[in-house]
Amino acid sequence: MDKKIVSHTVIGILGGGQLGKMLCIAAQRLGYTVHIYSESKENPAVTIADYHTIGTFNEFDKIDNFSKSCSIVTFETENIPKTTLNRVALFTEIAPNFKSLEITQDRLKEKKFLNSQKISTANFFEILSLSDIETGSEKILFPAIIKTNRFGYDGKGQYLVRNIDELIIAWEKLEKKECILEEQINFQKELSIVLARKNNYSIEFYEPSINFHENGILITSDVSSTPDKKIILEARRIATKIANNLEHVGVICIEMFLTETNKLLVNEIAPRVHNSGHWTLDGAITDQFEQHIRSICDLPLGKPNKHSSIIMKNILGDEILDIRNKLSDPFAKIYIYGKKNVKKNRKMGHVNFIKHATH
Ligand SMILES: Nc1ncnc2c1ncn2[C@@H]1O[C@H](COP(=O)(O)OP(=O)(O)O)[C@@H](O)[C@H]1O
Ligand SMILES: [Mg+2]
Repeated sequence: MDKKIVSHTVIGILGGGQLGKMLCIAAQRLGYTVHIYSESKENPAVTIADYHTIGTFNEFDKIDNFSKSCSIVTFETENIPKTTLNRVALFTEIAPNFKSLEITQDRLKEKKFLNSQKISTANFFEILSLSDIETGSEKILFPAIIKTNRFGYDGKGQYLVRNIDELIIAWEKLEKKECILEEQINFQKELSIVLARKNNYSIEFYEPSINFHENGILITSDVSSTPDKKIILEARRIATKIANNLEHVGVICIEMFLTETNKLLVNEIAPRVHNSGHWTLDGAITDQFEQHIRSICDLPLGKPNKHSSIIMKNILGDEILDIRNKLSDPFAKIYIYGKKNVKKNRKMGHVNFIKHATH
């Protein structure tokens, strides 16, 4: 498929959220035309895309027409059914590949994959039935976290539980879906590493960000201080192993816990651009969105180096009503996604606070 930078080369993006919007802007800036496939016409990417199709991932006639119009298709979410990607693959190229998506959209598969690569995670146990709850309670130390295997995001679909009674109640609240029970890690820090990969020889890493979550939602990502060199190298080693094994093409983010004994455990993998990489828009030579488009279109990768220290802060729910206040810092760069409905804890935008600009 021809992926030359010419305006008739169409990049398709499955998903019309803020990540799709920022990918769309990066692709258009590089001279591409963008076709967004979105489940709702209210989604942020729809109004700025050159073309859009509104439909569910199961409306195959729409998926087929969308795919026929694209030189290449990528995605902003891992929650895309395999059957949908099979349709897309009949008509055009997809990047990242199926393997990245299939493994990372299911927490159990993801954790098994990681452990098979000798990459450490929290101890976990699969919950499919009441008897698994009993066995799981014996094998996993409380406090623990029960998480649905699929479709969880921003802390949704998970509960912290302190004993078997709480575990049973939580599993019922999760509609007895397939879950994993994992030990709560008493971490000193959470960090993530974002990288772009074209092949084993072409990988560019961003500096890891230190992430702070509240109720499972990312609040800030901080790259204003550089983590210990040894930790950076270990995070890169783990991330490279994951990306190479998935034969991933595009940007990928690996979320990790740094334990009190300075060990890195992988929490989860996002096979796409990630909220903890938004700082790159104002702090790195090539931001994660452009880097993703470069990787999937087989263009040379840009330099990921950090040129400014950034603290990225998400704008959640009605914090959006107080934007003027944030603009009082003249080093603040503000991104508003354009979502029509304000809901509690919904990601409405983010701010990159530039600290110690180096030039
Ligand atoms: N095993 C764990 N131990 C400690 N904290 C956890 C654990 N699992 C999740 N968390 C906390 O909840 C957040 C969201 O969980 P995560 O598994 O990343 O799900 P999501 O898909 O919602 O991002 C994590 O970033 C972390 O702060
Ligand atoms: Mg997460």
